[in-house]
Amino acid sequence: MTTTTTAPYLDPTAPEDARVDDLLARLTLAEKVSLMAGAAAFSLTAIPRLSVPSLRMTDGPTGVRSNTGEAATVFPVGVAIAATWNPALAREVAAAIAREAKALGEHVVLAPTINIVRTPIWGRNFETYSEDPLLAAELAIGYVDGLQGEGVGASLKHYAVNNQEHKRLVVSAEVDERTLREVYTSAFERVVKASNPWTVMASYNKVGGTYASENPLLLTQMLKDEWGYDGVVVSDWGAVHSTAPAANAGLDLEMPGPAKWFGDKLLAAVQSGEVSETQIDAAARRLVRLMVRVGLLDGAPRPGGELRSQSHRAIARRAAEEAIVLLKNDGDLLPLSKTATRSVAVIGPNAAASRLQGGGSSRVNPGRRATPLGSLRDLLGESAEVLFAEGVDSEPVPPMAQGRMFSPTKARDAAGLQAEHFVSADFSGEPFKTGVERHLAKWVSTMTDAPRQPLGSIRWTGWFWPAKDGPHELSVRGDGDVTVLLEGEALITPDTPSTDDRYDLGGSNALRRTAAVELVAGRGYPIQIDYVWAPARDESHFETFSLGVRQPSGTMDEAVALARAADVAVVVVGSASNTEAEGYDREDIELPGAQNALVEAVLAANPRTVVVVNAGSPMNLPWADKVPAILVSWLTGEEGPDALAAVLFGDAAPSGRLPVTFPRRNEDNPSFPHYPGGDSADYGEGLFVGYRHFDRAGARPLYPFGHGLTYTAFAYEGLAAPATARAGERVEATVTLRNTGARPGKETVQLYVAPRAPSVERPAKELKAFSKVELAAEETRTVTLTLDAGAFSYCQVGQGWVAEPGDYDLLVGASATDIRLKATVRLG
Ligand code: BGC
Repeated sequence: MTTTTTAPYLDPTAPEDARVDDLLARLTLAEKVSLMAGAAAFSLTAIPRLSVPSLRMTDGPTGVRSNTGEAATVFPVGVAIAATWNPALAREVAAAIAREAKALGEHVVLAPTINIVRTPIWGRNFETYSEDPLLAAELAIGYVDGLQGEGVGASLKHYAVNNQEHKRLVVSAEVDERTLREVYTSAFERVVKASNPWTVMASYNKVGGTYASENPLLLTQMLKDEWGYDGVVVSDWGAVHSTAPAANAGLDLEMPGPAKWFGDKLLAAVQSGEVSETQIDAAARRLVRLMVRVGLLDGAPRPGGELRSQSHRAIARRAAEEAIVLLKNDGDLLPLSKTATRSVAVIGPNAAASRLQGGGSSRVNPGRRATPLGSLRDLLGESAEVLFAEGVDSEPVPPMAQGRMFSPTKARDAAGLQAEHFVSADFSGEPFKTGVERHLAKWVSTMTDAPRQPLGSIRWTGWFWPAKDGPHELSVRGDGDVTVLLEGEALITPDTPSTDDRYDLGGSNALRRTAAVELVAGRGYPIQIDYVWAPARDESHFETFSLGVRQPSGTMDEAVALARAADVAVVVVGSASNTEAEGYDREDIELPGAQNALVEAVLAANPRTVVVVNAGSPMNLPWADKVPAILVSWLTGEEGPDALAAVLFGDAAPSGRLPVTFPRRNEDNPSFPHYPGGDSADYGEGLFVGYRHFDRAGARPLYPFGHGLTYTAFAYEGLAAPATARAGERVEATVTLRNTGARPGKETVQLYVAPRAPSVERPAKELKAFSKVELAAEETRTVTLTLDAGAFSYCQVGQGWVAEPGDYDLLVGASATDIRLKATVRLG
């Protein structure tokens, strides 16, 4: 018998600290430095000498955005998770995402996004949680615990003050320190202390003139020293701008790899004394700890991987159901009756579309593309006629082409076009890469297998198969020169007039050239696209190329006729395919295209009209007073359309609450006078973000923070709270909640703390506790709301969190403007 001794760092049964100490002691300085930068786009450096494999990271938060393009379960986006007001459900979702990450061999999921929704037009509002730091933090605690409970690392992002896409790579957020701490970093602080995410991602932007990735106040003073963080600070992808300043400020990991600012430059900075070895040791210790935590050094494949399973679909479905918000329900129009409904007119540009998630790095490749129309048909079967009319086209520009519209050969036995990539700028010579490509949208600088290969031109050839008869628009977007030949005729050339637009990939404007053409459905049209690379005009961004196709849309008249003849009309409006995405902000809070006119016309034809808002951000709903029933279905992932059908017909009850205020006009949001700014963004509204602003201004939004109805009603009675409390102690309040209706339902009880006479300016009230409970019909229950020691505090710069003695009202209610009960606590 032979015995082998396993080195402690490779021994899964050894304590974490012992493993970390052991591996750290074996690393050379150069190896430590090598760990501090990625090896490739989403992987870290391996150390074969010590059997240390490469750690892999992948995007979230909506699911696993597989780096190899594999389909994964698409869960509801961030704002929809927040609308559940259910941290336990966020935890279940994240645990499922972690199991999918493990099935795909990933160790860290780059999620959750917890930045504050400061302006309703931020392009990434869908991806994040809320305008309120407490709500955002509680959901994120659930999410981080869910991921890490399965042994997969979280990345709390984007730290910090990353609240707009406009100039996101360079803008400096100018925010006073009290607002920084109370509004923009307090969710980070809470999550770091409660759940210890194994990584935190430093954002692209500057804060107070210094890039977040080299900001000692954020990375070292606050995060590591004050909050005691022991994990890894990773840069957002391409967010590093320096070597010694970044390393000395506390950045532990530069991404993506290979190193641009760390690597050899960092080693040289250590050798020249600009960065101390102690600093490198500290960073390497954190990185090694991460490896131990994610099981990278455990040898055997990690147990518990599971991809696109029925149980994950069931979790996605429950999360979608709990996210849907019922804004109004006059005359109890909802739920619709399955037995009495004979015909449903399903109308709108999003009714037959799979608008499941937002655009950008969080986009998961869906394995299932449900639509509201399809899900309603599935639910109702033969019992009702479910008819569809698009009504209007909401796309501001031709939406991105789908691979299935094309085939490489006339036989149409595959989807996509045949591609040839050339080094030359004129398609001459042998192509260095060929193959069928389904995605006709490219980050041109990074798309090749050999990223360093100079790229000159690409030619795509094959057949285009229109699905509808009538006028089409084809467009190409990018700063390179593009020629599109359809049936051998030049449809678009570099001389075609261009417009400058923000939509699609990139994050900076690019030129779009569009041409109209009449086409016949079912016929194959030979197509050739010749693309000649040019540098993006804006040097901070990659050149991107995309092909757009606008198909013929239905008409308003068809929609009106359909609505008039049906028992009920369900109008699904919302974001267009590319109006909510990372990389750019929205222009305003209006529904794109003529969707408002469509709602008005359908309503005039059928008073039994339900409007569903399929978007990830606040929208102006100018017809809200007239329409009897409105649901916000958000972007609820691949099970979202089924969940919507279930809610419409009462198989599920809506229980979502708005995690963001819906203002009436973009001008009413407090950041409006300051947005977008130039190279600096003035956070001049200070603490008064979201409902904190509406309270101060005495203004009524369209729908307030926290609002949401269900199919039953609740009475709030008997708020009990101690009359006095000592600062620094927890305070418990109880309230008796009664379901007064005949159906079971879920209610989210909210507790806001309102200081009576603060010595400094403070928001009139702030959410400090909430509880979502389910009650059977006519059930009564005592709900306990716990205020932690910080619930009464504000941030006194230089002093930290201070709970001033005095009287505080505890306001308990069903939304920020629907306060039902009040008690007063004297804090001594
Ligand atoms: C995004 C991050 C993302 C990263 C990697 C960045 O552009 O801001 O949220 O995790 O890319 O894809």
